[in-house]
Amino acid sequence: MKEKILNILKQTDDYVSGEEISQSLGITRSAVWKHIKALKEMGCNIDSVTNKGYRLVDSSAVFNANAIKDGLKTHCIGKELVYLKTVDSTNDEVKRRAAAGAAHGLVVVSDEQTVGKGRLGRVWKSPKGSGVWFSILVRPDTAPNEVAVITLVAGLGVCNAIRSFTGCNAMIKWPNDIIINNKKVCGILTEMNAEADRINYAVIGIGINVNTDSFPKEISHKATSLKLETDSQIMRADFLKEVLYQTEKCLDDYFLNVNSTILKEYSAKCATLGRQVSFERNGSSYTGVAKSISKKGELVVELPDLSNAAVGSGEVTVQGIY
Ligand code: BTN
Repeated sequence: MKEKILNILKQTDDYVSGEEISQSLGITRSAVWKHIKALKEMGCNIDSVTNKGYRLVDSSAVFNANAIKDGLKTHCIGKELVYLKTVDSTNDEVKRRAAAGAAHGLVVVSDEQTVGKGRLGRVWKSPKGSGVWFSILVRPDTAPNEVAVITLVAGLGVCNAIRSFTGCNAMIKWPNDIIINNKKVCGILTEMNAEADRINYAVIGIGINVNTDSFPKEISHKATSLKLETDSQIMRADFLKEVLYQTEKCLDDYFLNVNSTILKEYSAKCATLGRQVSFERNGSSYTGVAKSISKKGELVVELPDLSNAAVGSGEVTVQGIY
């Protein structure tokens, strides 16, 4: 009922009387009042004026399971969706649920992570109210070495969602950072539980800086948020719906389409390709030009002697991107 009231308020910039709402939804005016009170408690900025009614000033802060599920266009991912106000790490929560038998497609999203994890053992700051921190459980019938590609494909989904939702020219920094204007807006940490030749499950953990107003000085040259890039507050629930939809679309293409060209699409949006990159291998440093993405998801780098090196995960420094 709260969502229905919110929808009525969303349809106009003007005040809607309690009487009008009660009549169109067939509930009493005191019920309307109670739902409006709950919406305000959820973070909706609703103006109430005696004899005029209610006006929605800002609903961008509404972020909960109902708001995310309402109108979600996916057929599998997020059909089981758990929203938590706070959690240690959504990746860890999904792993706990996977161990207890949760199904492919489970999404855990949290307003805040107290122990958010980044790649290479780093901390991922996940304060409440500002970002979209969530993890997807996948149980693909594939070998462990395919997880790297699955992560690239999920990253492409996020990139596409940022493009379609905000109009920003989001790009991918291999393997799966999403950048806007050369600054990182999203990171992905995939963890898996596998046997020698078979994945039990993989957890794709995605952190997107959405309504962050500013970053500490030490990282402000390399981190950004959708709000900083668009100069507007983003409705996190609507944005997450688009991310889940686009991610599922890319994963479906990769898994179900025998003629999938998804890695070509990834390459077209990969800002690393064509740039000079440096990496370490067996204690030596190498520099070359990033040429392509292999079928296994590696970065193929042309070295000065014109030989190619396929670089797997780990740290690659890209010239010109943070
Ligand atoms: C990186 O760029 O280092 C990866 C960051 C991944 C952060 C996300 S936020 C949701 C999920 N839960 C975590 O603890 N980490 C990932």
